[in-house]
Amino acid sequence: MPATGIFLGLSLTDRSRVVGQGPDVRELSQRVTRRPPGMAAAPTTARANVNLALVKYWGKRDPALNLPAAGSISLTLDGLSVEASVAFGGGEADRVEIDGVLAAGEEAQRVTGFLDLVRAEAGRRERALVETRSTVPRGVGLASSAAAFAALALAASRAAGLALAPPALSALARRGSGSAARSIFGGFVEWQRGERFDGRDSVAEPLAPPDFWDVRVVVAMTSSAPKAVSSRAGMVRAATSPLYPAWVAGVEADLAEARAAIRARDLEALGLIAEHSALTMHAVGLAARPPLLYWRGATVDCLHRVWALRAEGTPAFATIDAGPQVKVLCAPADAGRVAEALRVVPGVERVLTCAPGCGAEVVA
Ligand code: PMV
Repeated sequence: MPATGIFLGLSLTDRSRVVGQGPDVRELSQRVTRRPPGMAAAPTTARANVNLALVKYWGKRDPALNLPAAGSISLTLDGLSVEASVAFGGGEADRVEIDGVLAAGEEAQRVTGFLDLVRAEAGRRERALVETRSTVPRGVGLASSAAAFAALALAASRAAGLALAPPALSALARRGSGSAARSIFGGFVEWQRGERFDGRDSVAEPLAPPDFWDVRVVVAMTSSAPKAVSSRAGMVRAATSPLYPAWVAGVEADLAEARAAIRARDLEALGLIAEHSALTMHAVGLAARPPLLYWRGATVDCLHRVWALRAEGTPAFATIDAGPQVKVLCAPADAGRVAEALRVVPGVERVLTCAPGCGAEVVA
């Protein structure tokens, strides 16, 4: 059966457009190796780490395909991971268990819709049993969905008998959650905006492996309550902001600076660009209609603490995602001091320290 290219960005309804594109389909088929679908439903388990965006993805050029308005750069983090087990066969409907609890409603539908992409590509119809286990709190701005969909992309595609090359795997993960495209890879990673309407050129690629540069990310948790506005909804709202066009126009220059800083292992240059990217992203939200602010009081206090540390001579740089947690980039030797400084900020519930982590892998 020929590969249809769904993973590289085409929705099911777009399929006719691909079938007409002979050379592209052939090119794709070379990158997708098929295995004969087995009779037995053996579960496959994969693990993926979360990633922290240093140049943020905030806005889509195609919401259905999760195509970003601009590129982004991240660091995959060790120790905050999701394991996903997938087995196809039997049952009337997909069964999705998240951390031991049967998923329902929108959460279950999101996984089922994702499995439909895998089934379509693999030419299979069986329902699936999916179990995910997470070491990351969900829905609080710690990128748990990035790790979850990266792990699910790898586990589900393998369980369905597909052996996808990394770019195709990244494109598949992107369909579950945009930032998941980056968690396929370890270390520093860039996700390309791409130009094509079908998104097949919007995939992530590694910039530098985890051992290229030993840095730390100290995470100050200021709230474990689920966020009120998902990143999906937040990006829709961002587009109403008069600052949104300026944000999108500025990302290319931020990417170039971040790439150069990573190449040179220049912590200050990378930290300053990461802080700038995050603060600009949140400024877009402040000017949106209605306004969007993910921060709590403790978020602001952590930011000031980081700036005070810097003034005192500790190179530490803050970034914030779609939630109230503050993540601080620093050198390994300073991580203890940064963690202590954040732990005593009133409202900080917990502090975690992460090193660079590896990409998604099959574990069973
Ligand atoms: O992948 P999503 O839809 O969860 O969006 C992620 C958005 C941010 O975490 C705020 C930024 C990013 O690049 O990861």
